[in-house]
Amino acid sequence: MRLILLRSSPLLKIVRFPHPTLRHRSKPLRRVDQELKAVVAEMFDLMYEAKGIGLAANQVHLPFQLFVVNVTGERNIDEEMVFINPVVSAPRGQNTAEEGCLSLPGLFADVTRAAQVNVSAYDLKGNRVDRGVDGMLARVIQHELDHLQGTLFIDRLNPIDLRTLTPDLERMEREFAAERLAGKIGDEMQLRQEIADWETKYC
Ligand code: CO
Repeated sequence: MRLILLRSSPLLKIVRFPHPTLRHRSKPLRRVDQELKAVVAEMFDLMYEAKGIGLAANQVHLPFQLFVVNVTGERNIDEEMVFINPVVSAPRGQNTAEEGCLSLPGLFADVTRAAQVNVSAYDLKGNRVDRGVDGMLARVIQHELDHLQGTLFIDRLNPIDLRTLTPDLERMEREFAAERLAGKIGDEMQLRQEIADWETKYC
């Protein structure tokens, strides 16, 4: 027998390159309600399941400025951070390290980012949080902020590394086309309508 769970939020799913919502420029989030809190809880679930340390809203086909982070990658509520309408400023120094992305599974390459940044964002309770960050947290925050602006880490690679990943990107494009043909991913119009519905409600 199958158990049917009643959910207060839609069933979210991590979308993969080249899903068009990954290129969507996210809008500010204007309100937080129970449904939005359920969405955030589900984003953490998906992130842990996929063994990630950060996940942006447009990676689950949602159009607003929100991302979740837990740099330990292990389920622990004390380590969970939610960034709403984040602003990153005052980049200092440079650091190059290997990155991956849950929307580009199995692909890794070196990305150069600021070593330290300031980040200012709201949390789920509506508190404004301002802090300076460095190390892995600074890297994850810059990666997730890129997502909200429609940028992927593959957009920041040197030409040689990008060339190395090109066969994988082409394979992912073929997989996406096949899934769409099979009706597992909506057509452009359907996706745009879903985005517009979320924006009407929250942005
Ligand atoms: Co990513």
